[in-house]
Amino acid sequence: MFNQEQKNPGQSVRMDKISVEQTLGLRHSVLWPDMPLSQVCLPEDSAGIHFGALLPHSDEPIAVISLFVEALPIDKNTTSDLPLLKQQNQQHQQNYGYTEDETTETKRALAVVRFRKFACAPRYQGKGIGTHLLAYALSIARSELDAGMAWCDARTTSTEWYEKRSLQTFGETFFKGPVEYVRMWIDLRDSPGSEHPTKERAFVPVTAEADSRNLSSRLPPVSK
Ligand SMILES: CC(C)(COP(=O)(O)OP(=O)(O)OC[C@H]1O[C@@H](n2cnc3c(N)ncnc32)[C@H](O)[C@@H]1OP(=O)(O)O)[C@@H](O)C(=O)NCCC(=O)NCCS
Repeated sequence: MFNQEQKNPGQSVRMDKISVEQTLGLRHSVLWPDMPLSQVCLPEDSAGIHFGALLPHSDEPIAVISLFVEALPIDKNTTSDLPLLKQQNQQHQQNYGYTEDETTETKRALAVVRFRKFACAPRYQGKGIGTHLLAYALSIARSELDAGMAWCDARTTSTEWYEKRSLQTFGETFFKGPVEYVRMWIDLRDSPGSEHPTKERAFVPVTAEADSRNLSSRLPPVSK
């Protein structure tokens, strides 16, 4: 049923940039299988950076995630969290050299990324691949996009998964169709692994659960 590579992928799964077209199959089959394929294509896709976890000799990813430069949304739904998030944004403005008076959504976006359409093929879930892929994408966000903060719309079924990886919720829950979501964010500054990922770190074992736990401890801590 499984070929050798699938039974024991060992060190062989690699994390890499991929095309948006390569993300569509998993976006559709894992996240929105009952919707038309067009549902998983985003107008912003051409401006995003797309990442995949790939087995050797394969261009078909087993996990995908996409990154977009997009400001942290602070609206009426996030009122209760506003002081903390506002403080974070002010620190960003200082770090990135513009002042409170100059604050606009556009300028904030220089330092903030959103990740979207994060999915791992069911047969490969629970092997640490998602953890590695998220960490890889966030390390590229830091090194190539100069990001200091990342956020996402998280399915509430995945909130605990993200919390274990140092993301925290803000705002109220909301629905997209039948699926309930909450927003989550993570501070990326001054964290371990903020250097550009080495080639070695782009290759990960997918069989060792302990490695998944080690990597989650390398995700950056949340600043209070
Ligand atoms: C979320 C997802 C991308 C994670 O990828 P993955 O490769 O399965 O994750 P990992 O193998 O790195 O993580 C495994 C760990 O998460 C735990 N886990 C898996 N799903 C979980 C969940 N929904 N809630 C809490 N923990 C979860 C496992 O028990 C394991 O725990 P451990 O690290 O303590 O051993 C993948 O499960 C997936 O595609 N889920 C369906 C789509 C989805 O919900 N995407 C996120 C949209 S916001």
